[in-house]
This record gives sequence, structure tokens and C-alpha cells, in this order.
Amino acid sequence: SGEKDKAKREGHDLAAKFYHHVLMNTEQGKQAYDYLVNRGFSTETMEHFQLGYSPDQPEVLKELLENRGFDLQEMEEGGLLFRQESSWELRDRFRNRIMFPIRDVQGRTVGFGGRTLGEGEPKYLNSSDSAIFHKNEMLYGIDLARPDIRKQNTAVLFEGYVDVISANKAGVTNGIASLGTSLSDRQAQLIRRNTERIIICYDGDNAGQGAAKKSAEILERQGLTVQVAVLPSGMDPDDYIQSYGTERFRKEVIEASVPIMSFKLQMLKKDKNLQDEGERLQYIEEVLKEITHLSKAVERDFYLRQLADEFSLSLDALKQEQFRLYKQES
Ligand code: CTP
Ligand code: MN
Ligand code: MN
Ligand code: MN
Ligand code: MN
Repeated sequence: SGEKDKAKREGHDLAAKFYHHVLMNTEQGKQAYDYLVNRGFSTETMEHFQLGYSPDQPEVLKELLENRGFDLQEMEEGGLLFRQESSWELRDRFRNRIMFPIRDVQGRTVGFGGRTLGEGEPKYLNSSDSAIFHKNEMLYGIDLARPDIRKQNTAVLFEGYVDVISANKAGVTNGIASLGTSLSDRQAQLIRRNTERIIICYDGDNAGQGAAKKSAEILERQGLTVQVAVLPSGMDPDDYIQSYGTERFRKEVIEASVPIMSFKLQMLKKDKNLQDEGERLQYIEEVLKEITHLSKAVERDFYLRQLADEFSLSLDALKQEQFRLYKQES
């Protein structure tokens, strides 16, 4: 109900302020603070994203919530506390983690992502779904990025919280991320309500490239124009910024993003030797299939001509082959 949801959000706001205070001002938070400084985050950045630290104690947040008159059962339902199986006691859900507050479009804190300081598992512990938190409808960073997304009519979609934050430092202030799950139609709709264009900038590994292709299709279905920014293999946006700096990230990754079709062609080319006749023919067939799936006639024509030029083929032959493939599929 409305009142209960409101209390859950207020509990989250209090928790975000508390965790932030611990990180910024206390001895307990020093290790976490140093960890973030080592990763290149300034005090200003920690403030901007209201980063925090959850102390390594079982019930500090619980006591704070209790002192402030919150109904603890409700805070459990909201995901800030959990009931320990052995003792049936309520305990803090997040312990000894860097805290990333997750806010809705209106800027209300409704969940957290919590990262281990070291190598512990899971690396990220996220709030589970609750009355106020639906993972597949949320986008990390949307509240802060929305004005710039609208101004630029472009959003940049990342995989990770840290990528959004690092990119912000690099002047890419229109960045958002889904919460560790694959992009949903609801998230794509939320993006579409704020912009017509989006740049996908996922991790430069096979998983990231595969996910980029999937997300692109979902975003296109909502009517967005999609570009893809490709990273060197083995790097995510944050790694790239650490290694090559903010300016190169802007110029050589974000500004160098390519239309989704060019990205798909790059991917198809990647593991083929086009000097080999058989592989070349296979490549041409795969490209033709991709072209057939394009919804805009102008685009189909454009890429067909490009393919014809690239391999010195006649447009007629390509069209015939395309027709054959089309019949095969339907
Ligand atoms: N994620 C998650 N649970 C995990 C691992 C990842 O929810 N156990 C989500 C988080 O939202 C994370 C994103 O997936 O931000 C991307 O994961 P990954 O690339 O592994 O983490 P990074 O963002 O690169 O984090 P870091 O640089 O701190 O390692
Ligand atoms: Mn502050
Ligand atoms: Mn990854
Ligand atoms: Mn990553
Ligand atoms: Mn990373």
C-alpha cells in the first residue's frame, strides 16, 4: 500500500545517508574509502553518486532504523534487513560492502548494489525485488543522467555501476546501466521515453558483445536508434578509462561508436578468414541474412550496395540470393 511503500523508501533514504556518512567520515569506512580512491574515484564523485559503506557488523542499520521508529518487519519486506534462519533474528542485509544506491526516475532510493572490497562472493549483492524495487524496471544512474540524456537526445548504456561512474568522470554524463540482468522491454521503454538515440557500451568480452547484440534488438523494437561502442577485448569501460584516460575514452570509444549493422558485420567478420573462398561465401550469406532482417528499405539497399562493392558482386546476384534465403526462412 501507499503508506507502507513510502516508509520503505524512507528507510532506503536513511540507509543511503547512513552508509554514505560511514564511508566519508568514519574510521570504519576508511578501508572502503581508500579502495575507492585507489580505483580513481574522487570525493566529489563519491558525493555525486552517494556511494557508501556498510559496516562489518550484524545490526547497525537495524538499530538505526529502530531508533528512528521504522517498523522492522516492513524494512525486512523492503529488503534492508533479513531474518537469520538459525536465530530468527533480523539482521542487516548488507555487510562490509561498498554501497551503490539505486534510485528511481524521481530520485528516490529503492534498492542497493553492494560490492565486496576484495574477492568475496558474490562480487555484487543486489537488493531483491520488493514492493518498491523491480530490478527489470530500474536503470542505475537514470535520475542523475536524465537531464543530459534529454538534452543530448542520447543515452549511453553500460553493464556496470562502476562503468557509469567512471564514464561520468570522463564527461559522459548521460550514462545508465541495467542491474546485472539482461535488458528488459520495460527498461527499453523507460529509455525510449527520454531519448531517441542510444549507444551501447558493454564489456569487451564475448559475453558483452553477445549481450550488446541482444540489447540492441530490444532497444530497436522500442524505436530507438542504436549505436555500439566497442572496447578492446578483455576491457570494460572503467578499465579502459584507467588505462587510457578520459579523453581517449570519449573520442575513441564513445564518439567512435558505429551503427548496429556495422557492429554486426564486424562480429561476423571477426572469426573468419575472408581470403578463404568458402569462408568468404559463408560470410556473404550471413550478411545477406542480416540485411534481410532490416526493417527499413533504405537501409537494406544501402548495405546490399556496400556488400556488392566490397566483394565486387553484382547487385542482381545478391538480390537473387537474398530472395532465395528469404524463401528458405519463411
Ligand atoms: N553484477 C551483479 N552480480 C554479480 C556480478 C555482477 O549484479 N555477482 C552486475 C552488477 O550490476 C555489475 C554488472 O553486473 O555492475 C557488471 O558486472 P562486472 O562486469 O562483473 O562488474 P564491474 O561493473 O566491472 O565491477 P568491478 O569493476 O567493480 O569489478
Ligand atoms: Mn555527502
Ligand atoms: Mn562483464
Ligand atoms: Mn565489467
Ligand atoms: Mn569493472
